[in-house]
Amino acid sequence: MSVEVQARCEVLRELLHAHNHAYHTLDAPTISDSEYDRLFQELLSLESRYPTLKTDDSPTQRIGAPPLKGFKQVQHERPMLSLDNAFNAQDISEFDKRVSERLQVEEVIYCAEPKIDGVAISLLYEQGRFVRAATRGDGLMGEDVTANVKTIDAVPLILQGSDYPVRLEVRGEIYLSKAVFESLNAGLIAAGEKPFANPRNAAAGSLRQLDSRLTAKRRLTMFAYSVGLVEGGGIADQHWDVMQQLKTWGFRINADIACVQGPAACQAYFERMAERRAELSYDIDGVVFKVNGLSEQQTLGLLTRTPRWAIAGKFPAAQGTTRVLEVVYQVGRTGAVTPVAKLQPVAVGGVTISNATLHNFDEIDRLGLQLGDTVVIERAGDVIPKVVRVVQTARDSAARPIEPPQVCPSCGSPLERREAAVVLRCLQGFICPAQQKERIRHFVSRLAMDIDGLGTKVVEQLLEAGVINNPADLFSVTVDELLTLERFAEKSANKLVASIAASKSTTLNRFIYALGIPEVGEATALALANHFGSLEGLMAADETALTEIPDVGPVVATALEAFFREPLNRQLLQQFQDLGVHWPVEVPLIAHELPLADQVWVITGTFSAFGRSELKDRLTALGAKVSGSISKKTSVLAAGEAAGSKLAKAEALRVEVMNEQTLIAMLEEME
Ligand code: IVH
Repeated sequence: MSVEVQARCEVLRELLHAHNHAYHTLDAPTISDSEYDRLFQELLSLESRYPTLKTDDSPTQRIGAPPLKGFKQVQHERPMLSLDNAFNAQDISEFDKRVSERLQVEEVIYCAEPKIDGVAISLLYEQGRFVRAATRGDGLMGEDVTANVKTIDAVPLILQGSDYPVRLEVRGEIYLSKAVFESLNAGLIAAGEKPFANPRNAAAGSLRQLDSRLTAKRRLTMFAYSVGLVEGGGIADQHWDVMQQLKTWGFRINADIACVQGPAACQAYFERMAERRAELSYDIDGVVFKVNGLSEQQTLGLLTRTPRWAIAGKFPAAQGTTRVLEVVYQVGRTGAVTPVAKLQPVAVGGVTISNATLHNFDEIDRLGLQLGDTVVIERAGDVIPKVVRVVQTARDSAARPIEPPQVCPSCGSPLERREAAVVLRCLQGFICPAQQKERIRHFVSRLAMDIDGLGTKVVEQLLEAGVINNPADLFSVTVDELLTLERFAEKSANKLVASIAASKSTTLNRFIYALGIPEVGEATALALANHFGSLEGLMAADETALTEIPDVGPVVATALEAFFREPLNRQLLQQFQDLGVHWPVEVPLIAHELPLADQVWVITGTFSAFGRSELKDRLTALGAKVSGSISKKTSVLAAGEAAGSKLAKAEALRVEVMNEQTLIAMLEEME
């Protein structure tokens, strides 16, 4: 490989970074899409010919990486706080009064910003390079979603300019625009999958994919709204100016950020944004007021989980008025029958709503709802739209009462009322086609066995034709059987059989999740797989053993035990294994057996092979605790270049010191 090739790669990377920035951050593209694609393809082909030239921050790396087993936990360098809420003008003016009194000033200057309804994120940059992204989690510990965040075009992989601090943490909100959300949902519905309830859920779900290649397809974007850690360099002293700095470094900053002075101006901003809410291309659930001066922020300080220097002015939930055309009944995977109101489609906060959940019959009684009624519906935060109230004055003579169904809308068997007489339930289990269908749909879905080309329609056809009766039957479906079904031709049938066969090679956590055991979601399935390492281990566990797992409470444990005790389920599991469904055997993760268990490490100085946070993650993954200061309890000090007082202290306390070279050798051996 020649020096020219290497130089060309560097030029291409720089060009592509600059064009990305112009397109995604500045909204001002400088070249055509086709020219961009040409440069991108050139870099891609050079990198695939000479893999050693590929860098972690190359624009080609935004396509995602192979799936992770789970997300690592990371400790935030500075806690990620939440905000206190103001629901009306009085709350805002009381907040302002507290602030101005404490600061002893007449009128406080605030930075006012839209409150984006997405997912909070922390991005860490070292020497201008993106090294880590973490979710907020509980504010102290979050999840490492670096691979996923790398796929988001609005997140710079390399900062622009040169006046940024050596270590810089940028915080912001990752979200999906309303338009992208609607097209994502349309695609999910067409594929027979469950749509997301709102853009926020869709963004959170996309960000927490273990396979970042899926995240890459979701067109997430981000607004930066503050900085956290700043080391080795300065930052402006007014929040507004910090935002401008972030912009010059390549971050997307909301165009509606404004400086306002005094409570009346805050209120005016709140009202202006509330009016503009529907026309914005993304969801907001309020506005945020932040004291503009950073030293004033310091003076004001923090309460336990919220700062005294900021408040969220929350909008009332978006509401709309429409008519109930019909009530349909959905039979869920576990037989619960849920009434759903079919509505005259209506736009609420920029999203079209045509269904609202009615939860159960007590709710219908409480609302006094009849068919044909005009209702107020609400789309709040992260819940499915719901009916808030009936507009009684708009009821006409055509309104008719809603009668609870006596029999299951799917299998016709009588329904039971259990659970304090609230939930209507069909007890037929696998005999009921709706439950059968729901369980199979769940089994093949993206986060479960992920079988391509097996949408709801096909599942229905297979069930109706009697080709399958349970999820395991899928693995013996033949091309000939598919050809007897409508809409299948040689090519599509072969393709489906191939993708069913490919799905046989899976992971234990996906398989557990795919079984659709009540109460066992994706995260619990992962915790179970990590803990037991094998299906046999899980099946043999009793309730006591199960509740020892951090994610598993008594309700989940009971559900698991009941599932594995049922002979039909055991038979089904045997059938899966006989038909060749398999997963790699995992060694259960036992914390105290990790090589660095019980050791306390401290990191100091700079390393050439990795950033400090990467080193911290790698040591933590090996079982070590990483602490910020040297004491007698410290086991080892990892000392890079230019180590200062910590090195001196370690030597004084006779703590073992390891240099970069020894450290690399140790990591290579242990990992
Ligand atoms: S400032 C202490 N600014 O709202 C300051 N937050 O509870 C904390 N959010 O989940 C955040 N837009 O992710 C800030 N312009 C904005 C925001 C914003 C959305 C989210 C944030 C957090 C929640 C605050």
